[in-house]
Amino acid sequence: MTERERELLAQAYAEIEKNRDIVENDPYRLHYHIMPPTGLINDPNGFIEWNGKYHLFYQWQPFKTAHGTKFWGHVSSTDLVHWEHEPIALAPSEWYEQDGCYSGSAVEQDGNLFLLYTGNVKEDDERETYQCLAESADGKTFKKHGPVLHLPEEYTAHFRDPKVWKKDDVWYMVIGAQTKKLEGRAVLFQSHDLKNWTRLGDLTGTNTDHIGEFGYMWECPDLFELDGREVMVVSPQGVAPDGMLYHNEHQCGYLVGDLDYENVKYRHEAFVEMDRGFEFYAPQTLVDKKGRRIMIAWMGMPDQYEQKHPTIPFKWIHSLTLPRELKLVGNKLYQVPLEEMKILRGDGVRYSGAEVVNEEKHFAGLDGDVMEISLDHIHGTYEMLEITLRGNARFIYNKEKKLATLERASFAHGQTEARHCYLEKLDSLRIFVDTSSLEIFVNEGQEVFSARQFPYPENKGYSFASKGYVSFDLNKWDLNKSAGAYPMQDERYA
Ligand code: FRU
Repeated sequence: MTERERELLAQAYAEIEKNRDIVENDPYRLHYHIMPPTGLINDPNGFIEWNGKYHLFYQWQPFKTAHGTKFWGHVSSTDLVHWEHEPIALAPSEWYEQDGCYSGSAVEQDGNLFLLYTGNVKEDDERETYQCLAESADGKTFKKHGPVLHLPEEYTAHFRDPKVWKKDDVWYMVIGAQTKKLEGRAVLFQSHDLKNWTRLGDLTGTNTDHIGEFGYMWECPDLFELDGREVMVVSPQGVAPDGMLYHNEHQCGYLVGDLDYENVKYRHEAFVEMDRGFEFYAPQTLVDKKGRRIMIAWMGMPDQYEQKHPTIPFKWIHSLTLPRELKLVGNKLYQVPLEEMKILRGDGVRYSGAEVVNEEKHFAGLDGDVMEISLDHIHGTYEMLEITLRGNARFIYNKEKKLATLERASFAHGQTEARHCYLEKLDSLRIFVDTSSLEIFVNEGQEVFSARQFPYPENKGYSFASKGYVSFDLNKWDLNKSAGAYPMQDERYA
């Protein structure tokens, strides 16, 4: 370990200790989501099942609740529900990453855990980018091998976020890029040893059907096989709003297609928005030993309102979403809450055949702010169903217009803001409520709305209103708290 690395790690651990009490006293601190111990969290990185555990790394700025020089934090879990903090994985100590160890992924080779990530360097207004390799035998301490890929001349220095996978004994990597004409791209590379990489070509753009001009930069591409198709999840920047679509600062969505690896030809369907809520970006996936493709995302957004988050006075900002299993239904990607989430269920209430008829209704026992609510077998001749959640958020289904809406009072300016999606039919809802977040799964994951919500902490009520007759089976479970402990003190600093 270099002296600089030792110094940065010691400073980061000291910052955690310094802020621990204030962070823990935030009533908006979440209870079953991954959060930074202090500072800012953004993208999930290096999501992998390795050596009998799930490991997840994350973009982390320990010293302020804003972006900047990123570290890699690290948590692990045996069930994807209870997470423990591991020692800090990467500190930006070397020349090739001096302004941040940016996003990347993890793979296993010969039993060891390898991280591929972007070394970010900014000198005056110039940016440099290096794709770097780090290796660990114990999953706790990482040896840096430095840059393994330099910027190809076809792209600007907005070239980052390597996601690596193996197919037929060959390593492949997809990288988010920007062409010199300022168009977003996903670029495919190949390697036999993780150290020497050959560029195969662009997966999107001129050599493909469409989507050549779709944003000025593509961040965090992730390409994987699902049911014999190749799905690419990606976060494009610079896509303009289009009707109901693309109202967040940056977008996140997917392509479903077929990749001809030999000719580097990716034929795909149109881009589909991944989540319909307010905060969802830069997801990453893994495939686990059970063969499930599981995705987790940043429940945040780099926008003008970021600095208005109510958690900032408590020295932390943002969180990750719940991990979700991906399923392909036709060409549509469903996001399904993990079966394991049921471990958290505690006491509950149940109303079979609940009815709401041209009225506003409360159900006894249906309150709380760390819980799961489900509505099944939703049916009736109703025109509109509205569920008010803790006062300042509402989920609305307008059956006539076939429109699903999530409304909330903006935490930045208090005005109502809304996100919508078209929904042919509403059959069921599963809503995961945490102290300051909502994740609403519609029709078993056909659509999902993810959002932070900052209600008055004393407002834990829910009400249902309808135009017309609607009936459903209503369940509510309190969820046990599972948010992980603080980072273990690294023995190198104890
Ligand atoms: C996406 C992103 C990535 C980058 C990282 C830096 O949110 O901008 O492209 O690697 O965050 O923290």
